[in-house]
Amino acid sequence: MGIQITPSMLAADFANLEAEAARISGADWLHMDVMDNHFVPNLTLGIPVIEALAKVAAQPIDAHLMIDDPDRWAPAYVEAGAGSITFHIEAANDPVQLAREIRAQGARASMALKPATPIEPYEDLLPELDMVLVMTVEPGFGGQRFMDSCLPKVARARELIAKHGGDIWLQVDGGVSLETIERCAEAGADVFVAGSAVFGADDPEKMVASLRSHAERHSH
Ligand code: DX5
Ligand code: ZN
Repeated sequence: MGIQITPSMLAADFANLEAEAARISGADWLHMDVMDNHFVPNLTLGIPVIEALAKVAAQPIDAHLMIDDPDRWAPAYVEAGAGSITFHIEAANDPVQLAREIRAQGARASMALKPATPIEPYEDLLPELDMVLVMTVEPGFGGQRFMDSCLPKVARARELIAKHGGDIWLQVDGGVSLETIERCAEAGADVFVAGSAVFGADDPEKMVASLRSHAERHSH
């Protein structure tokens, strides 16, 4: 699939999400951070907001569910129009069943790992997945500092994906910027979430293009 740039709408103007999506027409996906104030200590947006944006945005929606009990709630996010659903493995009760349900509904299924969660115990899940998200900050807030300590896990995830074969994307999320994206690409990531780097830029569209070319130059 190649390099993909997925701006986090958490850093956009929530009063103008349609216009904000139009400012980044070159983005491959719109990353929507769903937080429930239980799994993470912050509350953001949910099904109605995703449903509204999915209707008017040109890009598909990449829903990142930082919520308890994703087994119960994920199907409603597919129905709301999300094309990719990422659940946290720390919160999932039956990840195999959950991933199968998401795929059966026609969306891409993805598993996220918090910084302290290793990937090795979940190797056998890879055939059920379309993407793995390695968090590069503690989930809960935008604008945090990138954690270099997560890079070995990105490299390890890339190795395991290569070992299993199949076209599984590898996403990084948190503190991704022009300064940090090269390290992520070198470690093997191919899908890049960036919130403050994109919407904090004078020209978000240009920043999406710059992030893409930086990543392309450093990918394998
Ligand atoms: C953090 C979210 C991220 C966040 C990224 O919990 O999952 O998607 O919005 O924002 P930046 O790019 O500003 O770190
Ligand atoms: Zn996110």
